[in-house]
Amino acid sequence: MATNITWHGNITHEERATLIKKNGITLWLTGLSASGKSTIACALETYLLQQGVQAYRLDGDNIRFGLNKDLGFSEKDRNENIRRISEVAKLFADSCTVALTSFISPYRKDRDAARKLHDDAKLPFIEVFVDAPLEVVEKRDPKGLYKKAREGIIKNFTGISDPYEAPLKPEIHLHTDKQTVEECVQVIVKYLQEKKFI
Ligand code: ADX
Repeated sequence: MATNITWHGNITHEERATLIKKNGITLWLTGLSASGKSTIACALETYLLQQGVQAYRLDGDNIRFGLNKDLGFSEKDRNENIRRISEVAKLFADSCTVALTSFISPYRKDRDAARKLHDDAKLPFIEVFVDAPLEVVEKRDPKGLYKKAREGIIKNFTGISDPYEAPLKPEIHLHTDKQTVEECVQVIVKYLQEKKFI
């Protein structure tokens, strides 16, 4: 625990947003492994950048190569993974970037804490449930992880031997077993435009 520290503020978020004429938000993608979170986040990031919207993706697998390489998949480690990313996403949103996070983020209380962090800072937080039935993602199994989880080679695997708590009231609910990547991106873009976030 750090002590004797002081918060240093400069311009407010509103002043920053006015100066650079951009809004910051966090789009929080949650869902099972292989549900399509990273694929949708990549396509959305590309689309937004092409439209001149400053966007940046924080990806579960990628972040575990660097910032969170000390964390595994126990409940405690997943809590810490999501806590750190919530803070990082908030910083990106505060900097007037569209932060796109794609993490399984299986625990409701972790996602709710991410939302509260943003609410307290008056930064928009949009939960996107990237939904696909377990049978479908298990069939996709692009990395062969579900097979290994079924064989007991990988322990604590989300959906097989570890829980996934689906969002109760996500702002956006995608069904990637029925919608294409392009359709999913369009749903999100339409939402962002209607809410005047972009
Ligand atoms: S989270 O649960 O802490 O949010 P995160 O999104 O960072 O998970 O990482 C999930 C990715 O790690 C999966 O897409 C998969 O590639 C890999 N992975 C390795 N082991 C596991 C596991 N036990 N459970 C889920 N994903 C795992």
